[in-house]
Amino acid sequence: MKPRVYIETFGCQMNVADSERAATGLRASGYDLCQSIDEADVVLLNTCSVREKAERKVYTRIGEVRAARPDKRDLLVGVMGCVAQLEGEAVFEHASSVNMVIGTRATDRIPVLIERAREGERRVLDLGERGEQDSWDVSPVERHSPHVAFIPIIEGCNKFCSFCIVPYSRGREKSRPASEIVAETRRLQALGYKEIHLIGQNVNSYRPRVEDGLEGFTGATPFCRLLRAVAATGLPRIKFTTSFPRDFHPDIVTALEENPNLCDWVHLPVQSGSDRILKLMRRGHKRSDYLERIQRIKNSSRRLALTSDIIVGFPGETDEDFHETVTLVQECEYDSLYIFKYSKRAGTPAAEFHDNVPETEKTARFLELEKVHRAAQEKIYRSYVGRKLSVLAERQSSRSESDLTGHSTCHKVVNFKGDNSLEGEIVDVVVTEAKTNSLYGSLV
Ligand code: SAH
Ligand code: F3S
Repeated sequence: MKPRVYIETFGCQMNVADSERAATGLRASGYDLCQSIDEADVVLLNTCSVREKAERKVYTRIGEVRAARPDKRDLLVGVMGCVAQLEGEAVFEHASSVNMVIGTRATDRIPVLIERAREGERRVLDLGERGEQDSWDVSPVERHSPHVAFIPIIEGCNKFCSFCIVPYSRGREKSRPASEIVAETRRLQALGYKEIHLIGQNVNSYRPRVEDGLEGFTGATPFCRLLRAVAATGLPRIKFTTSFPRDFHPDIVTALEENPNLCDWVHLPVQSGSDRILKLMRRGHKRSDYLERIQRIKNSSRRLALTSDIIVGFPGETDEDFHETVTLVQECEYDSLYIFKYSKRAGTPAAEFHDNVPETEKTARFLELEKVHRAAQEKIYRSYVGRKLSVLAERQSSRSESDLTGHSTCHKVVNFKGDNSLEGEIVDVVVTEAKTNSLYGSLV
């Protein structure tokens, strides 16, 4: 029997995409993939280190994995992803039962690393770079959904925002050739995928070495040209995330206006509304620059949904600074907002700043901002009642067997009555009820 590998994924879409690639490579090398620890010979935890809480979770999970299989002495446990890349050797010190530490650019070498561990090598470690010949191929059976696919277009980050660990865990920005991205889009389309997400830490910083595959497509930046090239394939729904404010060229909005299959949703993390804090965060944009970009989005001929990320309690954030964030959130009226309490990450410049905002104050700011945001969100969600939305029926709802759930083009969760035969179809739904983070409707 082939050895079986169970991969558990934490964190962002980039990790989901890496797990899909890892699974593809493993199956090609003669392994089977399984869906639970109980069946596994090898367990891989694909980890996240963006905040302290996420990182702590890994060590708890390693203990749980071992405890779940007390009888299986030869169960191999590997830590991959951002915690692996950042902590390297130290993972073995923290958790002596770990057999492999696999960095963020070693995905293609996982089968070889497992072989080494199976042959008895203790503490297998690979924090190396990607190989030139490494493949981006993902087998459809390993994708997280049969209807929605993630396509990484750029890896890593060069921005070095002072609070963020990603440039250290993911390395420098590296863009994939456009010809490859367009070819993958076409393959997915032929397989029946209805929606793709172009993903990367900063998709709009996309800058391939040569622009093969983009000939004949206009656009103010390589990313704008890529958007038009991908849209030209005719795949029904194309989303992209995350965008970096400083590099968010207004031509992106023009591309959305020209191509109905580019979805009506922009995720543009602002992090703070205070210029003083934005400078300390080294974001490279001021409040006014950001609001200018938002103006273009809000004034678009299409109604575009807008979402964002904000950090509260950054070192040195005063009541006045926080108030600036509150007024920015009031002004932007986000469809959805992810609020995070600042979490100190060793090795980042902000870790040297005096983290002077007490935890209780961070929590108070979090709750206040959430309240302000909720008021705007409620208004937006209520405005959808009575309107028709195009929804991709992704799966049966976990709440009710007679309900299907999916996303609108504007990336809202929409639930509606319908049977399984509609799974994978794009349907029209009239919204009948607005809930806190989702909409409810009925099929047209
Ligand atoms: N551009 C990236 C951002 C990655 S991190 C992307 O693909 O989304 C995602 C979000 O986590 C950031 O936008 C930020 O709001 C939050 N974050 C990052 N580092 C953080 C830290 N040290 N403490 C709290 N939140 C953080
Ligand atoms: Fe992090 Fe800033 Fe890059 S938030 S991922 S360093 S753009």
